[in-house]
Amino acid sequence: MPSSSADTDLRPTALVPVTSAGIDRAAARLRAGGLVAFPTETVYGLGADATSDEAVAALYAAKGRPRFNPLIIHVAHLQAALHYGVFNADALKLAHAFWPGPLTLVVPVRGERISLLARAGLDTVALRVPGVDVARALIAAAGVPVAAPSANRSGALSPTSARDVMAELDGRIDMVLDGKPSAIGLESSIVALRGGVAELLRPGAVALEDLRRIVPVHVPAAAAGDVHPSAPGQLKSHYAPRAGLRLHATSLRPGEVGLDFGGVLAGAARDLSPSGNLAEAAAHLFRALRDLDASGAQVIAMAPVPEHGLGLAINDRLARAAAPRDS
Ligand code: TXA
Ligand code: MG
Repeated sequence: MPSSSADTDLRPTALVPVTSAGIDRAAARLRAGGLVAFPTETVYGLGADATSDEAVAALYAAKGRPRFNPLIIHVAHLQAALHYGVFNADALKLAHAFWPGPLTLVVPVRGERISLLARAGLDTVALRVPGVDVARALIAAAGVPVAAPSANRSGALSPTSARDVMAELDGRIDMVLDGKPSAIGLESSIVALRGGVAELLRPGAVALEDLRRIVPVHVPAAAAGDVHPSAPGQLKSHYAPRAGLRLHATSLRPGEVGLDFGGVLAGAARDLSPSGNLAEAAAHLFRALRDLDASGAQVIAMAPVPEHGLGLAINDRLARAAAPRDS
């Protein structure tokens, strides 16, 4: 079992009716680390327990994401959001104006509960309270914050109905809550409040004019023309270690600290997955980089990671972390 990739782990996907029993079933699956798609007013989301690196790794695997983008964390109400993020005055104003609804706020993270993998290693967190009652009922019943990108295979269109989700992900996830079609059909607007002025990171379902009625919002050049909600790799919000990173290392050089995969790098300080399991490695990646960075190492030597399944995303992330510090 440890060596089976979550990527190829086919399972029956249940289409669950939106009754209180159905919502309880779905909530229990989420709590147990399962993957549950659910309706929101923007698009259907693929949910996983946002406090579990393992559940989030399984989510990336099910989507076949070639890289780890930070995910939006869905909560049932503002009170819950305040547990996981630090809200300044502008963030509070926007939350009061648009939540529940199709606005995501990126704020400094509070505490350690939100998975580092879900945050792609960042010290900020993207939070949203969805407008659809079924979504909030599911999250409240689960009792955990829910990481949820759109419920499609990587590179495909975002699904706006339970049928679309089945067409994309049948056999790769545990459940789909069979709710109404998404009324909006376009992802949430994303605004960052990281000190200073609010910044539009992704245009979306709340118009810029409407945001600006509440607080001043700066539109960085990168977001201005980016109507399609992709391109998160372009955001200047990627965790990069302070230490240098040497990739594809098969032995340690003097002064290096080693990060292994599959037990091939003699003398390594850590192993992302001694058994060579890519989902396990993904779950440990950001924690390990942070810990080794904090240990004061000048250079982290990273063992090779195979280019399949989640290995693509792991290698993408490692290549970005190893690149010179200007992107
Ligand atoms: O409408 C939506 O927002 C849908 C539904 C399901 O709620 N969700 C969605 O989630 O689009 P997702 O995970 O695909 O959106 C993730 C995007 C990233 O690509 C990035 O642009 C931004 O949210 N993001 C997340 N966390 C961030 C952070 N800490 N800093 C900057 N951007 C972040
Ligand atoms: Mg998407």
